[in-house]
Amino acid sequence: MSSAISPSGGPRSVTIRRPDDWHIHLRDGAMLRRVLPFTAAQFARGIVMPNLVPPVTTVAAVAAYRRRILDALPAGMDFQPMMTCYLTDATAPDEIARGFESRTWIAAKLYPAGATTNAHHGVTDIAALAPVLERMEGIGMPLLIHGEATDPEVDIFDREERFMDQVLVPLLARHQGLKVVVEHVTTAETADLVRAHASRVAATITPHHLMINRTSLFQGGLRPHLYCLPVAKRERHRLALRRAATGGEACFFLGTDTAPHPRAAKQAACGCAGIFLGPVALQCYAQVFAEENALDRLEAFASENGARFHGLALNEGTVTLVERPERVIDSLPVGEDEVVVFRGGEELPWSIEGVRQ
Ligand code: DOR
Ligand code: ZN
Repeated sequence: MSSAISPSGGPRSVTIRRPDDWHIHLRDGAMLRRVLPFTAAQFARGIVMPNLVPPVTTVAAVAAYRRRILDALPAGMDFQPMMTCYLTDATAPDEIARGFESRTWIAAKLYPAGATTNAHHGVTDIAALAPVLERMEGIGMPLLIHGEATDPEVDIFDREERFMDQVLVPLLARHQGLKVVVEHVTTAETADLVRAHASRVAATITPHHLMINRTSLFQGGLRPHLYCLPVAKRERHRLALRRAATGGEACFFLGTDTAPHPRAAKQAACGCAGIFLGPVALQCYAQVFAEENALDRLEAFASENGARFHGLALNEGTVTLVERPERVIDSLPVGEDEVVVFRGGEELPWSIEGVRQ
């Protein structure tokens, strides 16, 4: 299918094959029930991150989490969660293969220990993970990486670059057949590294890294709801990410990293990382692609490149976006607290006109 863009006259619109979100945090319990319908309304499938407390590390735990997600899905929604397992120092190659071969999960997530929210059970010595990575390479199972150095001495704005130089480049050399997704890429240099290995390495790009830079975090005061990890970088990186997302290269695809946290956990003396994009993700991407005169490339980025990388069928059905301004809800109540929405209270220029399943 090629995406249809409306002729001049009325508002611009674009109809694309139903998209997938290759990076989501759905959480569990009340939060899961609250946020899942928003992702399910926009995406046919989503790769679910395993950084629960405790993390989901085994076939049994991931299968149980998947059932909880399906139980939380409102009747009539056909969203398919695609699961991942969380790698630790104790991960066994056989368990990894068992989960992949039984289709319990489609990939493994590597958090360097301490890199981000709920990453304290992550991997402390990535070189020691070699037997797991060799097995993954052998069975064609992708490794999804949170690519940031964890040494607290490293400047936070350099952590991605340091990880790429010191960990990812040697890892790609050691495991020459391993499929890797660099999650939420934030720098021009990382995008180039992905391009250089494009036959087996890909990257997801979030809406926020296409829309904000590091100055946005301090615009008029401290903006805790724009704080995520990896943290947004300089403007030149944002512009490079826009070129990567909208340039039509198959190695870049959609992954929102929607990561809800209660307002109280964000607006705290030590606020946590994560931006909630559930209700606005596609509208933000459409805005960026429209601004870059690349609406004809939105479908490849949103609905094709990721599925092809993972060897999955493309979705049936369509989503139509229209250039009609719509005000974004500020926040969602969750229990006694609420979750603030990215761009909440603002008017976004694009809205979703309809979804055909
Ligand atoms: O900002 C982030 N939030 N980055 C991550 O890597 C994790 C995520 C979360 O789980 O809240
Ligand atoms: Zn994430």
